[in-house]
This record gives sequence, structure tokens and C-alpha cells, in this order.
Amino acid sequence: MHTPCLGGLERHADAVLEVSADGAIGALHPAGGAGHAAALEAVGRTNRLLTLTPSQTLVPGFADLHVHAPQWPQAGRALDLPLERWLHEHTFPLESHYANTGFARAVYDDLVRCLLANGTTTAAYFATIHEAATLELARICLDLGQRAFVGLVAMDDRGQCPDFYRNEDAGEAIAATRRFIGAVRNLPGNAAALVRPIITPRFIPACTDALLHGLGRLAGETGCLVQTHCSESDWEHAYVAARTGRSDTASLDGFGLLRRHAILAHGNFIDDDDMALIAGSGAAIAHCPISNVFFAGAVFPLHKALRSGVPVGLGTDLAGGYSPSVLDNARQAVLSARMLASGVDPDRGASARGAGEDVRFGFREAFWLATAGGGAAVGLPVGRFLPGYRFDAVLLDADAPGSNIRLKNGESDDDRLQALFGATRANIVAVWVDGRLVSGGTS
Ligand code: GUN
Ligand code: FE
Repeated sequence: MHTPCLGGLERHADAVLEVSADGAIGALHPAGGAGHAAALEAVGRTNRLLTLTPSQTLVPGFADLHVHAPQWPQAGRALDLPLERWLHEHTFPLESHYANTGFARAVYDDLVRCLLANGTTTAAYFATIHEAATLELARICLDLGQRAFVGLVAMDDRGQCPDFYRNEDAGEAIAATRRFIGAVRNLPGNAAALVRPIITPRFIPACTDALLHGLGRLAGETGCLVQTHCSESDWEHAYVAARTGRSDTASLDGFGLLRRHAILAHGNFIDDDDMALIAGSGAAIAHCPISNVFFAGAVFPLHKALRSGVPVGLGTDLAGGYSPSVLDNARQAVLSARMLASGVDPDRGASARGAGEDVRFGFREAFWLATAGGGAAVGLPVGRFLPGYRFDAVLLDADAPGSNIRLKNGESDDDRLQALFGATRANIVAVWVDGRLVSGGTS
């Protein structure tokens, strides 16, 4: 089952899906089609046939476009604080510990295994300012087989970053990022670029103009993708407006950072002009609906962004979001969009409900965000079962021990998808990246 386009849903019961030894998806032979029997026989001879039981559904792997790996030890903690206090009192002190590479290795290994077990086959990571620890994260992703973008965080503004945790200056941060890009590209075993470096200015408030300009130039020079936070919270959005006289989006454009497949986390306060700029640039929003509940002070205008042609995927924003699960965030995306459409003020709700089509954002769309939308946002051939795409996939089993979901015989594809929307980690029984089994399973 997959959602090859926004609003589309396809289920291929009893089909044969071919996957080549190198992990590329080949033909899909529908039941009763011309090539079905021949394909079944050919695969059967190789002993590499995986047959699904009636309770199992194969879906594309999930893309987490925004996750802070070093914040894993504080997931769920201190979310009663506003963003600026949460950063200074909890997050920066925790991230400073990653100067200790051994500490980093233990956390990162645990996190990547957990994300894989939750079906995250592609992740875009913010790490810390520490080169050795961040390279360790890249190595762990490569060893465990997760498709990943790994970012060495850059932050040099002396007013906004504490002395114990910041780059010395713009030149030092840019040089470190340049070294890091080379190191990841040259990691042994990474010839296929399963793991890629990504240029990571933390957010405009934490970076000087010199750093932002320098990283924009480095992106042009190296072809690396860029990730940063954009118009995340009321405080942050107002701070950038006061400093630059422009929105985050327009400012990033001025710094040369608004590039194709750049990942802009959150985007809760983007206006019509920002949306047009983002759509025109080919950058994308990582929608982080759980984190936004705590830190944004607003709800991301998801429908409007999609209607405006803005590419969107999902992010957990660990640990601003408490959950490592993309599925949890897909569920919250549906809830947040529903509440935005229906209105949150009882006195105004009825008129807002007249918004009509907006209320229709539902499970197909959220599933698309979690899979095909996320893959397309960063320009990777993942998230759909189409020839030439990579076989990044999750096997869901409704009858797995601890399951909260039940399937019914003969139900519609939409009903099956909606039932599967209740899937938890217990239902994720196997995960593949590039055709390699990376979590669960027996074959
Ligand atoms: N803005 C700058 N840094 C961060 C971070 O670590 N988490 C979140 N949610 N927002 C940020
Ligand atoms: Fe974040």
C-alpha cells in the first residue's frame, strides 16, 4: 500500500513487487497480470521471496525531516517552558556534553536503532557543534543502514549562544562545516552516499550575518543541502523581524540559504509572500506538529502551504517533540489541521467550520507527508513503490503482539489505511533501507 501522490492511495493485493539485489524497486506485477506467475516463479527459485500474511501490509518507510539527535536524552522533558528558556536552560547545556565522543556514541547508537524500529528509513539530523561526535553519528547511520542527512550545527552569535556552547566565530564554523562535508563524503562504505552531510545553521538568531552568508556560499560550492529552523515560534519570528527587518524566509533567501531541497523546520509564521518564495526556490517545510503544540504559539497552515505548492514533509523535532515516531507526528498533523480548520475558539468555531475543504485533510494526506512527501521534499527516490525508487519499506502486522489495531476482511482500502493509522512500534515487524533489513524481521 502506498500514496504515490497527494490524495492518492493504491493497494496491490497479491501483487509481486520485485527488488533488485542492490535495493532498487523493479516491476510490480498485479495479481492475474501477464508477468505475475513468471515473476513469482523466478523469485521463488532465488529463495528470496517474502510472502505477506493476511494481517500484514507493506508500506514505504517513513521520512523524519527534522530530528535533533543529541536531544534524545531529554525527550519529553521541560516542554512546559517556552522555546527560548528551554534552549538556554536545558538544550544548550545538554548539547555541550557531546564534546565527549564516547557519550555521543552511546546516545546516537541508541537513537538510530530506536528510529529504525519505528520505521524511520530516512532522517535529517541536527547534531551539535562537535565534529568528532557528529562524524560518529554519520558512521552509526551508515553501519546500521539508515538513509540520513547529518548536520554539524553552526552557531556563533555571542549574544544568543552561551560561551560554553558556540563556535568561536564565523570563520571557524565555516571551516569546520567544510571539513565535515569532506569527512562524511569520504566515509568508508559510503560510496553510494546513503549518508550525506547537510549544512546546518541552527537558526538565524544563533548565527551572525557573516556565518549565514558564508554557509550560503558553501552550499553553492559543495552542492550540499541546507537545513535550519524557520519562523518556528512567535518569539523567534519577531526576533528575526526586529534584527533583519524581514521574515526568516526572506532573510534566508538573502543569505543564499533558500535553495532547492533546503529543509526549513516548522515555518509556522510563513505568510503568502514567504510561501511563494519557498515554492519558487524548491525548498521544503519540515512540519513538526507535536513540537509546534509546545513551542510555536500558532498552528502551521498546512493546507495553505500545500495549495501554494510548498513541498512539505514531517519532522519529529526530537526533543521539542516528545515522540521519536513519524506516525505519531502524522496523527498529530491530522489533529492540528482539523483544529485549525474547525477553529479553536468556541465563539468563532461555527463560522470557521464553513471553510469546508480544509476539514478534509485526512489520513491519505498525512500518510503521504510521512512517506512520498518527505522523500520528494529532499529529492530522494523514496516513499513510493515505483520502478527506480529505492526499496525503503516497513512491514506492518495488525496481529503482532501488543497491537492496538484490527483489520477486517474485505474492507475498503481507505478503511484499511485508517485502521493502520493506529499502528504503533509493536506493529512494525520489519524495516528495510535500500533492500537491506535494518530492523526486526527474520529474513
Ligand atoms: N531553534 C533553535 N534551536 C532549536 C532546537 O534545538 N529545537 C527547536 N525546536 N527549535 C530550535
Ligand atoms: Fe528543531
